[in-house]
Amino acid sequence: MILKSTIDRIMEATDIVEVIGEFVQLKKRGANYVGLSPFANERTPSFTVSPAKGIFKDFSSGKGGSAVTFLMELEKFSYPEALKWLAKKYGIEVEETVETIENKEEENRRESLMIVTGYAAKFFHESLLDTEEGRNIGLSYFKERGFSNETIKKFELGYSPDQWEAFTGQALKDGYQAQFLEESGLSVKRDNGSMYDRYRGRVMFPIHSFTGRVIAFGGRTLKTDKNVPKYVNSPESEIYHKSNVLYGLYFAKKAIREEDNCYLVEGYADVLSVHQAGIENVVASSGTSLTVEQIKLISRFTKNITILYDGDAAGIKASLRGLDMILEEGLNVKVVLFPDGHDPDSYVRLVGTAGFKKHIADNRKDFILYKTEILLKEAGNDPIRKADVIREIVESIAKIPDSIKASVFIKECSYQLQIDERALLSELNKMRTAKLKKDSQQQASKPAPVDEVMPAEPELITEKDDASQEKEIVRLLLLYGNKMITWDGIADTYIGPFMIAELSDVEFEYPAAKKFAEIYRKEVENGVLPDEQYFIHYPDKEVVDLAVNQIATKYTLSENWYEMHKILVPDEQANMKATILGAIFHLKKQKVGKILESLRKELQTTSAEADQEILMTQYMHMKKVEKTISDFLGSVILK
Ligand code: CTP
Ligand code: MN
Repeated sequence: MILKSTIDRIMEATDIVEVIGEFVQLKKRGANYVGLSPFANERTPSFTVSPAKGIFKDFSSGKGGSAVTFLMELEKFSYPEALKWLAKKYGIEVEETVETIENKEEENRRESLMIVTGYAAKFFHESLLDTEEGRNIGLSYFKERGFSNETIKKFELGYSPDQWEAFTGQALKDGYQAQFLEESGLSVKRDNGSMYDRYRGRVMFPIHSFTGRVIAFGGRTLKTDKNVPKYVNSPESEIYHKSNVLYGLYFAKKAIREEDNCYLVEGYADVLSVHQAGIENVVASSGTSLTVEQIKLISRFTKNITILYDGDAAGIKASLRGLDMILEEGLNVKVVLFPDGHDPDSYVRLVGTAGFKKHIADNRKDFILYKTEILLKEAGNDPIRKADVIREIVESIAKIPDSIKASVFIKECSYQLQIDERALLSELNKMRTAKLKKDSQQQASKPAPVDEVMPAEPELITEKDDASQEKEIVRLLLLYGNKMITWDGIADTYIGPFMIAELSDVEFEYPAAKKFAEIYRKEVENGVLPDEQYFIHYPDKEVVDLAVNQIATKYTLSENWYEMHKILVPDEQANMKATILGAIFHLKKQKVGKILESLRKELQTTSAEADQEILMTQYMHMKKVEKTISDFLGSVILK
């Protein structure tokens, strides 16, 4: 358990715009910041961050919360993981109640796996720098390749001793569990149950999640023996899904945002050398072909990808089709080739930073034009093959969601392909129409999306939504709970405790609201008035979600919402008495209505006369209560 005092310090230090800004490009708009939702695919920004309230609200996906909830949603962190991430960012030492090796077991599995991989990274890094074998073999190799101490340290490069159990033995001795050593792929189990090191005598490249935690490794052999695999990589695990990870992203994301461009290379060494040369917006797909998830990851930071290819023509051609995927995601793709025999790593070391940048500037080509060029060259004078090329290129262009951009490409390609622009356009339109048809068919078979984002504004509440009355109480408690009552008859009381007392005979049904009301009641009993911030940072996500949804509506987060939509909203603060009492008694009326309903049902099914009489008495009584409430509501609200 993280100590409450530590949590408070973390919350105090946390700047939500800064935290979310690491993942989402934010632009200031009025008092808030907006950006593209990292949870949904959208083209117009609906993701809003309010620094004043310390909350975000994503109107696309309906998610909302504090910086902590954001990390939990996006990174799938647990609550303590999210806190630790923030603590690390703001240099706060995390104080926990004593955590021994035994209750490492109790921590959730992902956290355990990350603890193990983090430990391993440290082990390999220290063995690179502090052991003779590591220095003589690993470190001298890295030095030979031109990696500076700074790079080695930043990327936590390491060395695995050339022994069977150096790492596993030490890890077990230090109390790490065999189960997690095996699941993280660091150790391999023998038939007899004992374990040995997966990585032996290799230089180690830790792979960081894009929030900076080590989740896997690539280990490169230093032997030239063809029978030894060049790289041994971590297997897939609960914390490492290859297709979701880009090597170097954690160290690159800031520069990617600043440069508004991401360089994509193939290998670990390429990332390290290019980064070391001061070009930090570089990531690697680590030898595998690019996945949609990886592209989505990049597109959170920039819409521009520049692929830096080794000069190997066969490899390039194979990857061309895969790149259409990037176009589909609406990204701009450029391609740069390097002279034969060179990869970005060797080339940047040969020509230096300025030369490298110049090469990129001089040779950067748009992917589609580049693809056209290559395919055309290949087709030669064969008219049939040329027709195929045309089709394939138009197919790529059809994937571009922005139609203006697409028509620019059509123009350029018509020149390149020496074909009438109109012919290409009609081909493009055919493909578009076919795609639209397909999409709309898929859309039709899906259930209609539910709008869960709509705000709980008083005039929009209907009896239809059972929970809305309870949510309205939550909203008022959050907004006005710690304000003094100023209307006549009642004095020296805060609205929160007043509401809680008035509602003492009401049982909340909607689970999150029930929790909320209970927390509020308890705090009031302790003499505390919990406010917005209290609930935004409450450790239970269900409560946070409810709170944020009540605070952050389109109405409250976007200043000109009313004007844009020409909605007249009565100013609820002008008549607080009506607002507060109205909400309380509407809820009571709803509850009474429910009781009446169930009494009616019971009356219909009960035959014993005595029982019927009792039920009837109750029914009459509740009817009276209902009438009283209605009258009261009428007198308060309709003034
Ligand atoms: N790779 C791999 N397994 C292999 C070969 C390559 O996982 N057997 C991945 C690694 O992520 C590697 C990338 O593909 O970084 C590119 O491969 P390569 O160009 O061969 O490796 P480099 O990193 O360039 O290594 P070096 O420059 O040391 O040869
Ligand atoms: Mn290389």
